[in-house]
Amino acid sequence: METKDWKNLGFGYSKTDYNVRCYFKDGKWGKLETHSSEAITMHMGATCLHYGQECFEGMKAFRGKDGKIRVFRMKDNAKRMAESAEGIRMQPIPEDVFCNAVREAVKLNERFVPPFDSGASLYIRPLLIGTGPQVGVKPADEYLFIVFVMPVGPYFKEGFKPTDLAIYREYDRAAPHGTGKFKVGGNYAASMAAGERAHEEGFSAVLYLDAKEKKYIDECGPANFFAIQGNKYITPRSTSILESITNKSLRQIATDLGMEVEVRPILEDELSNFDEVGACGTAAVISPIKRVVDVEENKEYNYGDEPGKVSTKLYETLRGIQYGTMEDKHNWVEVI
Ligand code: PLP
Ligand code: COI
Repeated sequence: METKDWKNLGFGYSKTDYNVRCYFKDGKWGKLETHSSEAITMHMGATCLHYGQECFEGMKAFRGKDGKIRVFRMKDNAKRMAESAEGIRMQPIPEDVFCNAVREAVKLNERFVPPFDSGASLYIRPLLIGTGPQVGVKPADEYLFIVFVMPVGPYFKEGFKPTDLAIYREYDRAAPHGTGKFKVGGNYAASMAAGERAHEEGFSAVLYLDAKEKKYIDECGPANFFAIQGNKYITPRSTSILESITNKSLRQIATDLGMEVEVRPILEDELSNFDEVGACGTAAVISPIKRVVDVEENKEYNYGDEPGKVSTKLYETLRGIQYGTMEDKHNWVEVI
């Protein structure tokens, strides 16, 4: 196995041995190819460069105590990538091509899957880009699908330690009927100004309000928002957030634990009623929140310096399933 300071890994790019590619050309997908180069060449008129025809996914593989490598809910990511592709009129990647490329990329880079006790994992980044040239605003007729991987630690440097979020009214991430529900690059470009300002001001991420009324909680930076109130797990319903697979899993875990689950519009004012709040996603896992600051309105909501009991239980259960130490009763993991 590769030797690294696994316990102190951050969330960032590092080179691994291979990436797996598949090209769509002349109306069909080709065979999977294995490459060791990190570079790609493409036409300068490629639609991904000019018109943002690109979508991506984020998923993880975990090394268990038993040494086995488990990938979490891969088919859900395959399905979501096909939806993102269709959402911006790209050629969707078939589920079997997606899953085989992921399996191959993990196997070929097995020595980079962090050891069980490190708390780190292998981040898997499937990427689909329009490579065919267009100068008119039209879909490409050629596409490249790539899967590359890298070992990562926590996305928010605090890990499972509570962090602060900022609400700013002067930025929107996505419009109600825009592309917020798809995992496309443009949403992330649109979030960078607010995200950088939040970091400069000491916050870990931005808690977006809905773009139309600025009343409801929407997306939480690169993650979904959830709240705990008594025995309830509450998460926003919105047309502009990405359907998080982590959030979907936490809703199921909460139900299994006998909690009630509500998916509904959440008013910002309700932040004062919640016992615990958090951000959830593949990269973020669960990031508990200690403070939300509504910067322009000069309001603060506080949840304490330690992770809440329910968030901790949800976190431990999710991690347990992912690392193979708890029963996977919903068949979420595939051993590679
Ligand atoms: N929301 C956004 C904007 C994201 O980028 C992500 C990350 O993938 C999520 C939510 C969480 O989704 P998932 O749990 O499927 O990783
Ligand atoms: C993920 O959680 O997988 C993400 O894609 C978030 C971010 C790194 C964009």
